[in-house]
Amino acid sequence: MTTNQHTTPLPTTHRWPEGAIVYQIYPRSIQDSNGDGIGDLPGVISRLDYLQELGVNAIWLSPFYPSPMADFGYDIADYCDVDPMFGTLDDCKRLIHEAEARHIKVMIDLVPNHSSNEHPWFKESRQSRDNPKANWYVWKDPHPDSTPGHPLPPNNWIDVFTGKSAWEWVPERKQFYLHSFHVAQPDLNWSNSEVRAAVKDVMRFWLDMGVDGFRVDAVYWIAKDPFFRNDPVNPAFDPKEDERYKMLTHVNSCGWPAAYAYLSELAHVLHEPAFAQKERFMVTEAYPKDGDAVAAYLAFYEGIDPQVAAPFNFQGLMLRWEAEPWRRFLRVFHHALESLNPLCVPSYAFGNHDKSRMVSRLGEKAARAAALMQLTLPGMVFVYYGEEIGMRDVPIPVDLVQDPEALGDPQGQGRDPERTPMQWTPGHQAGFSTSTETWLPIGPDYKTLNVEAEKDDPRSFYTLYRTLMALRNERESLRYGFVQVLELGHPDLVGYVRSYKDEYHVVLINFSDQPVTCVPGVKLHKFVVSSNPDANLTDGANGTVELLPYEAVLFTQ
Ligand code: FRU
Repeated sequence: MTTNQHTTPLPTTHRWPEGAIVYQIYPRSIQDSNGDGIGDLPGVISRLDYLQELGVNAIWLSPFYPSPMADFGYDIADYCDVDPMFGTLDDCKRLIHEAEARHIKVMIDLVPNHSSNEHPWFKESRQSRDNPKANWYVWKDPHPDSTPGHPLPPNNWIDVFTGKSAWEWVPERKQFYLHSFHVAQPDLNWSNSEVRAAVKDVMRFWLDMGVDGFRVDAVYWIAKDPFFRNDPVNPAFDPKEDERYKMLTHVNSCGWPAAYAYLSELAHVLHEPAFAQKERFMVTEAYPKDGDAVAAYLAFYEGIDPQVAAPFNFQGLMLRWEAEPWRRFLRVFHHALESLNPLCVPSYAFGNHDKSRMVSRLGEKAARAAALMQLTLPGMVFVYYGEEIGMRDVPIPVDLVQDPEALGDPQGQGRDPERTPMQWTPGHQAGFSTSTETWLPIGPDYKTLNVEAEKDDPRSFYTLYRTLMALRNERESLRYGFVQVLELGHPDLVGYVRSYKDEYHVVLINFSDQPVTCVPGVKLHKFVVSSNPDANLTDGANGTVELLPYEAVLFTQ
């Protein structure tokens, strides 16, 4: 692993990712502008005013590139264009321009681990063992135990989606290719410098167009054991509970340290003089494996220049909604980051296109408390579309299931429930589309759970999110302040102070389903907001706060 030399002088002003509110857009599901039941880029443009009013500082667009859609755009057939389903390259340029006019940064999805099997690179690569792209993907001969006519995969690696062999036989080459995800997503060969150069050119193409950064997909998989040894069997695997992928412990098929060097190469592109007139940033997607999440996050900050890169922090998706693990994490993580390098930007995701929605995971009260917590934590905060109105997972009838992760499993829901169309109004298709059918069904609660209904309701999720976002945008201590975890002496409470210059805020969170009396031991001057619309808090002059079940509150001086 490379370490940062801290040679870059510390910036004198704050970089845009510090404190930024980033809104994740799943382009299929924001707004359909042409009545085909699928969201598109002109649809996104038409909703930029909404996002500006909500208070977001940046958007991350999930893939909109030409794709056979085997994995809904994460199988890319051309890295430098727009799928006609989503619009044109001109629409994309317009989107970047219109976003900039509203002071909204644009991050796009970079998917380096795999392309589509329909990408011209792969079509060429699969033809022979000696064409110019022959070594651009991960090709291997059959296992030596194979018998004539019965090629066996080179090792036991399995793919994320089916938990079956990650190797696919190609008769033209008499070799297998590796697909860590879908069979239609062949893994690019990152040990080949030509591949790395090609991906860097892709970045340059989009940076030239004006994007402010990248969300980099599935980065653990770009570096594998160079000897391609088997993954060990996972002794803790429970076939009744666990998905098949958990059968093995994936110590060889992904997560090798070369990933840091490869990602550093990408980070260097962001520093190139041609692009340095704007601050660019990338956020890498790697879920910490079992064990020490803090160490896993720190390895990325140490390995890739934190001036331009940060790993996603997935604790908001992974930790139980309990005080103790959160208290411990906040204390250890922020302390470690601070001592590592002041340039490090935390990046908290509490929802995304792969995980059950916050309200469905945590329940309504805790989801509101989690929103208050997320929007008062340091660094980038990633809000998945629809979370701001409290959207829930939508049950998908078996015959309407789309997600490749779910297909083949008769109970399969996969990731469709959290990808359903945004609920804008109580009208036709929730204001998402004029078509009679939408690519996934609209949530059954859309008549009451929608932007229009929530906008003027002081008790709504929308009002809570909008209030919190406005505060984050106004108050320097919420954007830039250090987080100091309080000793509250109660097992169900977490509290922290965010302070910057002479401004500070105090956050108190009750993780239990019971009311709790909290004596924070710091001055609580002005009560600002509670996650619970029934709260009846006043300024904390006497230093004691009665917190309702699952309530989070914010005070300031
Ligand atoms: C995150 C993800 C998935 C996608 C996979 C492969 O893990 O973005 O949504 O299916 O990576 O690209």
